[in-house]
Amino acid sequence: MKILALSDTHYSGEPSSWTSLFDKRSVGLFNYHYLRRHRHNQRNLQKAVDYILKNPPDIVFCTGDITTSGEPSEFNFSKEKLKPLVEDNRFDFFYIPGNHDNYVKDRNCQKALDEAVIYFNKNKFSFNDMPYSFHTNELDFCLVNESYPVHMLMSHGILKKKSRKYILDWINKKTGRPKVMIGHYPLFETENLLVRWRHRLYGQKKIAEMQKKGKLDLSVCGHVHKPIPAIDERGRGEIIVGSATGNACLAEIVYNKEKDVFHYKKIKL
Ligand SMILES: [Fe+2]
Ligand SMILES: [Fe+2]
Repeated sequence: MKILALSDTHYSGEPSSWTSLFDKRSVGLFNYHYLRRHRHNQRNLQKAVDYILKNPPDIVFCTGDITTSGEPSEFNFSKEKLKPLVEDNRFDFFYIPGNHDNYVKDRNCQKALDEAVIYFNKNKFSFNDMPYSFHTNELDFCLVNESYPVHMLMSHGILKKKSRKYILDWINKKTGRPKVMIGHYPLFETENLLVRWRHRLYGQKKIAEMQKKGKLDLSVCGHVHKPIPAIDERGRGEIIVGSATGNACLAEIVYNKEKDVFHYKKIKL
């Protein structure tokens, strides 16, 4: 079975109200205008959509950060761009939020996020229903939210107690199928902790241990914009998808059931 994953498209749109000047969205906009604007080319998002339509997989996962400040206008842009994938019946499309999509507590932003989760996942689950698990003939999947509004200067994620319990129960359920977790943050640090401390995922320790023990086969995530496959010879481990707009890439993951191996390929857009 073939999976295509895209991530971290970071569209930046108009602020929905003047109140955005007084919360974390001001940081998001500053970041975008001075740091990110030239790093995220939205034409690459169109290329990603075109590639997926031409090379349809069985499932498409979007691992979050489709906005910069979680603004309704940013969700609307991303919904419009990703619509052909959501509406294509040849494959399933799933989305989980990134920290930029759940950026502030503002009512309009939270409403836009709730609507986006329902829209992209075609009513299969809502934000509060996550984690959400399902399976195909070959693989078990668990989709996890790790993103909540956090302090202005922080970008960390949190695996809350309820999610941890759900994931551990899901991992321990014997189904005979390999288990693939879809989240926004890497379970494992990719760089020196001092560099990454603002960006780490809290509450992931036990799940990371399960991965090391081989009980969780694969973690697929975003957040880090550089694509990084940290997998062994059987394709087990963690795949950081990379930013579709910033690094012009997608992740292709093919599971070969006979050989029980995952193959990763970076798709250059
Ligand atoms: Fe991101
Ligand atoms: Fe992120």
